[in-house]
Amino acid sequence: MYNQYRDPHPQSEHHQSPLPPPQSKSGVTVIIVGGGIGGLSLANMFERAGISYLILEKATTIRALGSSLGLDASSLPVMEQLGLLDDFIKASKPVRHFNFYNEGVKPIGMVDFSDLEEIGGYPAVILDRPTFYNILTKNIPKEKIKYNKRVLTITQDEDGATANCSDGSAYLSTIIIGADGAYSAVRQNIYKSLKAKGKLSSNDAKPLGYNQHCLVGVSKPLDPEMYPVLKNDYTDFDIVIPKNDPFYAVYMPIPNNRISWAIIQNVPRADEASGDSFRFSEWGPHAAKEMADFVRHLANPFREGGTLGDIIDSTPMDLISKIMLEEKFFESWYEDRVVLLGDACHKVVPSAGLGANLAVLEGVHLCNLLVDMPSTDQKDITRVFEAYYRQRAKIARLALGNSRQFGKVMGDRV
Ligand SMILES: Cc1cc2nc3c(=O)[nH]c(=O)nc-3n(C[C@H](O)[C@H](O)[C@H](O)COP(=O)(O)OP(=O)(O)OC[C@H]3O[C@@H](n4cnc5c(N)ncnc54)[C@H](O)[C@@H]3O)c2cc1C
Ligand SMILES: *[C@@H]1O[C@H](CO)[C@@H](O)[C@H](O)[C@H]1NC(C)=O
Repeated sequence: MYNQYRDPHPQSEHHQSPLPPPQSKSGVTVIIVGGGIGGLSLANMFERAGISYLILEKATTIRALGSSLGLDASSLPVMEQLGLLDDFIKASKPVRHFNFYNEGVKPIGMVDFSDLEEIGGYPAVILDRPTFYNILTKNIPKEKIKYNKRVLTITQDEDGATANCSDGSAYLSTIIIGADGAYSAVRQNIYKSLKAKGKLSSNDAKPLGYNQHCLVGVSKPLDPEMYPVLKNDYTDFDIVIPKNDPFYAVYMPIPNNRISWAIIQNVPRADEASGDSFRFSEWGPHAAKEMADFVRHLANPFREGGTLGDIIDSTPMDLISKIMLEEKFFESWYEDRVVLLGDACHKVVPSAGLGANLAVLEGVHLCNLLVDMPSTDQKDITRVFEAYYRQRAKIARLALGNSRQFGKVMGDRV
């Protein structure tokens, strides 16, 4: 049994394991594929729990991607245990209200979250994504995250599981956790193997379908005199739902006088789709510009006569992203030594802001189970993965439905 990450064919020194010996009961070693929200949160837990791990992340650096993320009262207590609560509170704003407006920016409804903290002890907060990453990486030793490592294949046998990367390097560990997002290579690998064994469900065999087009951005710092909402020490999400346009806009003031914004268009299901609704289906800066031009006339709620175009023009081009938002619940979450977490096993649309919170909480369950795992025998690993699935799959499925409802309420027109 290997108790350390090993490159079976080390090509250079930097492929050697820099890891301290495992401290957990079983001596389990873990490769986490993907250093996103789920992978990094889990790494923080493993640091605390004394489980040795290595993150393989395909990106060369953290990409800004113009978006922000909400953490709710379910994952803030986790961040508190990880010693990161103060960082999150300082870098974020608590969410007080969702204010809904029509196309003329006339208020049409409001949801009040201001007593969330009183009820549950924690607010819901919002911050930009790069800051989120910075907080999550601060306590992770540099040598435990390897960037520029795109995992292509996974193989497993009685000795362990091996992740092979596009640069020819390979890493061996007891188990592999696929936290590599919606298009998870880890998932594709285990699904190929499940399929060969006739164990892949027809649901899981189908590709992801996308349900929403989304344009997101984070503005540069704006003048609080022009945008007085920026003076608040809390944030209200202002949601503009125009009657005759097929999309809605969400404005979220975040720290440093910036406004994070998102334009979301629901995509009709294929059977009801008219050609037009697919006009923004391509990716890239061109698609971003096209969608931006299409929505910029929308009124913004901040100033008389102000438009979404004002906010778009105050957003650096590299902080505007056009993304497709998929939704799918995958039924199989593990095979032998390999298990999935986060968007890799359930992709929800962000309308209810649940995706990151789910990934964080899945990490908690998996980490707790791994700490108590008595040995690294396959039967104990399987028990852990089964328990993990029992504890989390139902919740992920509910979250998918919940997010879909939020999206429909705001995005569908009858
Ligand atoms: C616009 C938008 C707004 C959102 N807002 C919210 C919100 O307010 N609240 C919320 O809870 N959620 C939100 N979400 C969802 C949230 O971002 C995701 O649910 C969350 O990031 C999932 O975490 P993850 O770790 O599973 O995947 P990701 O964060 O996607 O991370 C996957 C990582 O794996 C890496 N990777 C991929 N393939 C490989 C490979 N082959 N080898 C190595 N590495 C690889 C990727 O580079 C990436 O770093 C939002 C999503 C979007 C798009
Ligand atoms: C993975 O890498 C190892 C070591 O380099 C190699 O022996 C093995 O064939 C590779 N597996 C795949 C599927 O590429």
